[in-house]
Amino acid sequence: MGYNVAIDGPAGAGKSTIARLVAKEKGYVYVDTGAMYRALAVYFLEKGIAAEETEKITSAAREAEVGIRYQDGAQQVYLNGENITSKLRTEEAGNMASMISPIPEVRERLLELQRSLAREKDVIMDGRDIGTNILPNADVKIYLTASVETRAKRRYQELKEKGTSCDYKEIVKDIRERDMRDMNRETAPLRQAEDAILVDSSDMTIPEVVEMIIQLCG
Ligand code: DC
Repeated sequence: MGYNVAIDGPAGAGKSTIARLVAKEKGYVYVDTGAMYRALAVYFLEKGIAAEETEKITSAAREAEVGIRYQDGAQQVYLNGENITSKLRTEEAGNMASMISPIPEVRERLLELQRSLAREKDVIMDGRDIGTNILPNADVKIYLTASVETRAKRRYQELKEKGTSCDYKEIVKDIRERDMRDMNRETAPLRQAEDAILVDSSDMTIPEVVEMIIQLCG
């Protein structure tokens, strides 16, 4: 078993930015589990399957083989042998991932892949149910959050820097909806594990959060 750090929290809390920096500093492998759900979401979107078509999703999920490889330390996601990493970070893929992730067969499809990565390597893994469900015995568990307004502002800034047109109010609405779905679903809802340390990054800088987590990792 590798050394395992679990980071869970809502969309836009900064999990991936923080986890990537901690991984670099500590020599861990960064595992982004959201990207795996996004990969399945892209598969269903390309097949024209809607999020409500649970039966079609359940059966299509069986045909979708998600694989992870690392290139210069960066996670690459493969879907049935094709590298689809560049297709994952869209709002459409994120929303679809949030809508299909409550389906037990979808979660089941990714569980073993996530656990096997943590068995083989020292990892910092981020997601929604890592500390509660995937790695219940993780060495360190963090619940990273920030206020809805802070998360929306960060997302707005990020999109503006990329030159993507966006509306702040729309982003707030989107984040609230995503929180509702991720926290209130029946299967593996997002919640803080009993033994997780709560980190609210609303009034913290990125280096401050990174430093705090590094200290916790011993
Ligand atoms: O972290 P992210 O935005 O890339 O995740 C996209 C969606 O995938 C998220 O809204 C819920 C789902 N997800 C999940 O259910 N469990 C995980 N471990 C990671 C993501």
